Amino acid sequence: MASKIALVGILNILTLLHLFSEILPLHASKLNPNSCSVIERDALLKFKEDLDDSAGRLVSWVGDDCCKEWLGVECNQETGKVTKLDLRNPSDPFVVDLLTFQSSQLRGNLNPSLLELKSLEYLDLSLNNFENTPIPDFIGSLHSLTYLNLSLSSFVGLIPPNLGNLSNLVFLDLHAFILEFNNVFPIPNIWVSDLNWISQLPSLQYLNLGYVNLSLASDTWLHEVNKLPNSLHELHLPSCHLQNLPISLPVVNFSSIHVINLRDNNLTSSSIPQWLFSLCNLQTLVLSFNQISGELNDFVGGLSKCKNISLEVLRLSFNQLSGEIPNTLGNLKNLKHLALKNNFFSGSIPEPIEDLSNLEILVLSANKLNGTVPEFIGRLNKLVFMYLEDNYWEGVISDSHFLQLKNLKEFVFSSGNNPMVFNVSKDWVPPFSLQLLNISNCQMGSISNSKFPSWLQTQKDLVFLRLQNVGISDQIPDWFWELTPQLQVLDLSHNKLQGKLPKSLVFPIPRFSQVDLSFNQFDGPIPLWQGLSFLSLRNNLFSGPIPENIGQGLLGVGMNVLDLSWNSLNGSIPSSLTEMLNLKVVSISNNQLSGNIPPWENNLQQLLAIDLSGNNLLGSIPISLCSQLSLQILSFSNNNLTGKIPPCLGILSSSLRLIDMSRNHLEGEIPEEITSLSELRSLNLSWNQLTGKIPNQIERLEDLQTLDLSNNHLSGPIPAIISFMPLLNQLNLSNNDLSGQIPAINQLKPFNDPSIYEGNPKLCGPPLKISCSKSTKNDNGYGPKWFLWLSVVVGCLVVVGLLTACGGLIIKSSWRNAYFQFVDESKERISTSFNSMPLVLKGKKYWERL
Ligand SMILES: *[C@@H]1O[C@H](CO)[C@@H](O)[C@H](O)[C@H]1NC(C)=O
Ligand SMILES: *[C@@H]1O[C@H](CO)[C@@H](O)[C@H](O)[C@H]1NC(C)=O
Ligand SMILES: *[C@@H]1O[C@H](CO)[C@@H](O)[C@H](O)[C@H]1NC(C)=O
Ligand SMILES: *[C@@H]1O[C@H](CO)[C@@H](O)[C@H](O)[C@H]1NC(C)=O
Ligand SMILES: *[C@@H]1O[C@H](CO)[C@@H](O)[C@H](O)[C@H]1NC(C)=O
Ligand SMILES: *[C@@H]1O[C@H](CO)[C@@H](O)[C@H](O)[C@H]1NC(C)=O
Ligand SMILES: *[C@@H]1O[C@H](CO)[C@@H](O)[C@H](O)[C@H]1NC(C)=O
Ligand SMILES: *[C@@H]1O[C@H](CO)[C@@H](O)[C@H](O)[C@H]1NC(C)=O
Ligand SMILES: *[C@@H]1O[C@H](CO)[C@@H](O)[C@H](O)[C@H]1NC(C)=O
Ligand SMILES: *[C@@H]1O[C@H](CO)[C@@H](O)[C@H](O)[C@H]1NC(C)=O
Ligand SMILES: *[C@@H]1O[C@H](CO)[C@@H](O)[C@H](O)[C@H]1NC(C)=O
Ligand SMILES: *[C@@H]1O[C@H](CO)[C@@H](O)[C@H](O)[C@H]1NC(C)=O
Repeated sequence: MASKIALVGILNILTLLHLFSEILPLHASKLNPNSCSVIERDALLKFKEDLDDSAGRLVSWVGDDCCKEWLGVECNQETGKVTKLDLRNPSDPFVVDLLTFQSSQLRGNLNPSLLELKSLEYLDLSLNNFENTPIPDFIGSLHSLTYLNLSLSSFVGLIPPNLGNLSNLVFLDLHAFILEFNNVFPIPNIWVSDLNWISQLPSLQYLNLGYVNLSLASDTWLHEVNKLPNSLHELHLPSCHLQNLPISLPVVNFSSIHVINLRDNNLTSSSIPQWLFSLCNLQTLVLSFNQISGELNDFVGGLSKCKNISLEVLRLSFNQLSGEIPNTLGNLKNLKHLALKNNFFSGSIPEPIEDLSNLEILVLSANKLNGTVPEFIGRLNKLVFMYLEDNYWEGVISDSHFLQLKNLKEFVFSSGNNPMVFNVSKDWVPPFSLQLLNISNCQMGSISNSKFPSWLQTQKDLVFLRLQNVGISDQIPDWFWELTPQLQVLDLSHNKLQGKLPKSLVFPIPRFSQVDLSFNQFDGPIPLWQGLSFLSLRNNLFSGPIPENIGQGLLGVGMNVLDLSWNSLNGSIPSSLTEMLNLKVVSISNNQLSGNIPPWENNLQQLLAIDLSGNNLLGSIPISLCSQLSLQILSFSNNNLTGKIPPCLGILSSSLRLIDMSRNHLEGEIPEEITSLSELRSLNLSWNQLTGKIPNQIERLEDLQTLDLSNNHLSGPIPAIISFMPLLNQLNLSNNDLSGQIPAINQLKPFNDPSIYEGNPKLCGPPLKISCSKSTKNDNGYGPKWFLWLSVVVGCLVVVGLLTACGGLIIKSSWRNAYFQFVDESKERISTSFNSMPLVLKGKKYWERL
């Protein structure tokens, strides 16, 4: 009995041993067929080793079985071969903040060990950061790939044409940039030499090469794409420098295509290409931001041959299309999204648009549409976004225009030259709850009785509210300020709004919100509102002092633009203003402020413009201003400032463009250091008590356009160089004590007006009628040789040796001209318009609407 048991035991052991002997030397995968092979595991580990994975996304890549619990790795159940590697950055840049996004990016090198994964079908490395390296060649040898996504991963250089070897490829996504995130994804320099290789991908259904420079393929791209058999469903080539859009194509191979996106390619075409007309399966056509002209009629007419026009998205904004919006558009019954912004469409909105009952987005902005806005628009009950602004509308917009628009989220409207009335009934309860309302240049309510719109009380989701120049003459009701805790942008400028503002309010997104209440009749004290980046209260009746704590803490930390000009504010400038560390523009001009200019102890790194003109400010100009190293515009005119012009301003030589210190009591000499301000375009020191000479080194201000030194006590000669300053076009030296002959070499300049020299009894020569005695001639510090040299410079275009130097100068100055114009205008404009797009529009959907 015992031996029997022993025998069975021995047999069992033998069987086991036998089994082991067979199994042990073999590979683990045979034991368990769906676990990964050593070779593939080692390949993955090698691949991981070369990556810089600071967020530890690949910590699960340990242990033997790469098919189990290795993040992003998937294997074939039967063979145990790795088939999928999905290492897409899990942080969505549309959702998380920049740092979170960047910290979860994989970096480093792509090790060719991946070639060991012979069955790899799916490779997604998108949203990582391969730091401006080219797409490695070996990718073209991963023959089993059907899905390859290397988008938004900072690859640069030539896309290897051997990707054409990936003959099984179905999805290829290499797009390199997203418009809405231009600081997250800078446009990389990535290109192709041709697109021949594309035609070697017979199974391709999806192709996205957005932002890849295809200019070397611009003549052939369509033909290469057309060589693909009839499998291609989506073609995305936005911003690819294609340029060339053939109007006809003899045979259209890709007739099953659903999506064509050729946005922003500077495509020049005299019509919408014929070959598009035969694409009956087309669902999305995006040709926005090109140079396509012609009419819409032909295109829609062409499509009408299809039994079922499947077109859902038609985006043609920012082209040169013209003519009327065709009636036939009503045939596009499946249309959800129609964007025609910024073309030359004329006439009215045709009636058949009413048949587009699926329409969700309607963008007709910035055309030449006229007539009344038809009421049937109010029956397009799926509408979410309706943008009609910048056309020539007339007549009335009433409740009926919104009758069934229960889904409407954004409404943008303005009328052109014709008076237009927005007249809804008194107790109107709109069917919608808007997030964005933007109405300008029309009359809300009747002219005689334009109340603040009470229907806004029902709009509790508003993020952006702009009612600009709509003739409201009323107080803002109390309910308004409680209405919208999520409001980010409020623009009620150019109305006749009256009354006082709430003393304190907290805006939802700190440092972001923007408020423009300029050009109204508000009175009372300046409010203290938290969370703003932009506040304009310009041209109102605000009075009293500027609150002492205006710049402190949350009140000031995010402020970029503060415009309190043209009110009746008095008292002194609070020094807390200099605590607004993000300030770019501050204007408090034209009030009744007194006292000294506070010292700017903080270096406000971003400060561009200070305008304190038109007050009663006393004392001297604080030298601490010289440490505001980005300052471009400094205006202190019309005050009672005394003392000298601080020479240290010369430090701001790489930024300062405009100085206006006119109408003060400044004395002493014009500091020579001012002449080192090489960017200076405008210098106005008129109406002061300045003495001494005009510095000779003024020649260094070669870009100066405006020089006004009138009404001072300046003496000595006018430096001859002034008449050679290439861009100078406004000069006033009147009412000083200047002497000698007026330099008059360059007759092209508008320096022949005698009034700019008047009031200087010792000046002589043309254009003044006083002729110079011999002794005063050339009393301007320069001898005849100097004049000769200047003549040579002026005439240098004909002197061969100087040709290039001259050419350079001309190009440079025209560029600078344009720039200065910008700065000059911005003096007016910068403080009265919003400086950034509101968050609500920053989401990816915004550009996708145009
Ligand atoms: C490729 O990856 C990007 C970013 O992760 C994603 O948005 C896109 O849809 C992917 N492409 C395809 C074809 O799946
Ligand atoms: C891959 O493509 C390149 C160029 O496109 C070609 O020269 C090469 O022979 C191809 N290799 C294989 C293995 O097909
Ligand atoms: C695109 O590539 C062409 C040809 O290589 C080059 O001339 C052009 O400068 C590139 N464009 C951009 C915007 O990089
Ligand atoms: C259409 O596709 C087929 C299949 O790839 C190809 O043989 C043919 O040359 C293509 N036609 C044109 C006009 O490119
Ligand atoms: C767009 O095309 C026009 C004419 O085809 C050309 O003059 C212009 O320079 C191009 N613009 C860009 C940005 O390439
Ligand atoms: C027409 O096309 C639309 C959109 O592609 C589709 O939803 C609808 O079913 C089609 N209708 C018919 C009758 O084929
Ligand atoms: C609209 O403009 C067209 C010309 O583009 C003109 O013929 C027509 O009379 C205008 N209609 C109205 C209502 O002003
Ligand atoms: C508001 O409307 C004006 C035109 O009236 C337009 O220029 C501006 O871009 C619009 N802004 C938004 C955010 O809709
Ligand atoms: C505005 O609408 C009211 C009725 O709601 C009407 O009596 C009035 O005439 C309309 N005004 C204009 C200018 O259309
Ligand atoms: C400011 O003006 C008000 C009248 O609006 C006056 O009562 C007050 O004294 C003034 N304050 C200063 C400091 O001038
Ligand atoms: C400012 O100067 C003007 C004239 O130059 C003078 O009338 C006024 O009293 C001065 N104001 C102050 C506060 O000194
Ligand atoms: C300089 O300032 C004075 C007084 O503010 C002004 O009248 C004059 O027009 C200005 N000069 C120029 C050239 O703008």
